[in-house]
Amino acid sequence: MSQAQLQKMDETVLGWLDDVSDIVMKRVCQRMQIETKSGHRDLVTNVDREVEQYYVQHIRTFDPEAQILGEEGFGDAVKSTEGRIWYVDPIDGTMNFVKQQDEFATMIAVYEDGEPVMAWIMDITNHDVVHGGPDFGVFHNDEPLQAPADVPLKDGLIILSGARLLYEEKGFPELAKSAIGYRVYGSAGISYLHVLTGKAVAYLSRMRPWDFAAGVVLAKSLGLKVGTIDEHPLNMLVSGSVLVATEKTYDDIKEIQKEWT
Ligand code: IPD
Ligand code: CA
Ligand code: CA
Ligand code: CA
Repeated sequence: MSQAQLQKMDETVLGWLDDVSDIVMKRVCQRMQIETKSGHRDLVTNVDREVEQYYVQHIRTFDPEAQILGEEGFGDAVKSTEGRIWYVDPIDGTMNFVKQQDEFATMIAVYEDGEPVMAWIMDITNHDVVHGGPDFGVFHNDEPLQAPADVPLKDGLIILSGARLLYEEKGFPELAKSAIGYRVYGSAGISYLHVLTGKAVAYLSRMRPWDFAAGVVLAKSLGLKVGTIDEHPLNMLVSGSVLVATEKTYDDIKEIQKEWT
């Protein structure tokens, strides 16, 4: 895509994010409809659905040829990574949204033939956005974002999935012990923002494509390392244990991984 097309896409999506933050912050003060999906900790609200419908409607007008892969099912049944795909996670960290009314995000990513094009992650309560792509550069709100310092695992905070730690999934407790400290935020988007802005050295969780699509675009664009800790390479259509880290921390984790595999 040309610079002008990327610029237009960025401006357009930033406009949608403004609308979405207005919608969400208004709904926070109202009575929400909360339902469960796969289990009692897997929540969905009317706001998750409303925001996804907003995105789907606007993406269809802006980019009618593209496919949409959204968490709440208003997009398409995407079967292949061919062509342009918009990944949409309307509210990431729904549990935080319901219980804390903060530390949740909204995420959008665009890929073409499986390759990263652009992404946006917004911390909604703080209206804080990291956005960009490999041919566009990465911005923290209006300012260019530089690559975070290459800090090793022993000196940095690692962000992990709470569920994986609780159930002691192979490798997760070892990594928590090897870092200077570990954190659990309950939102992939918020976790990615911490790694992208250098507050943490890695984020590792088992997630679905709309959870990791935007974080992967922005991390790769900033020169962070991206991979998986299971035997499968990153697949943009299925779940994976996705790792985003500084170069040194990535190598440290791969070294530690040799001991548990
Ligand atoms: C969840 C959050 C959570 C992560 C889960 C995701 P959702 O997303 O990002 O931090 O551990 O794997 O499903 O369902 O709140 O959008
Ligand atoms: Ca969910
Ligand atoms: Ca999510
Ligand atoms: Ca979600």
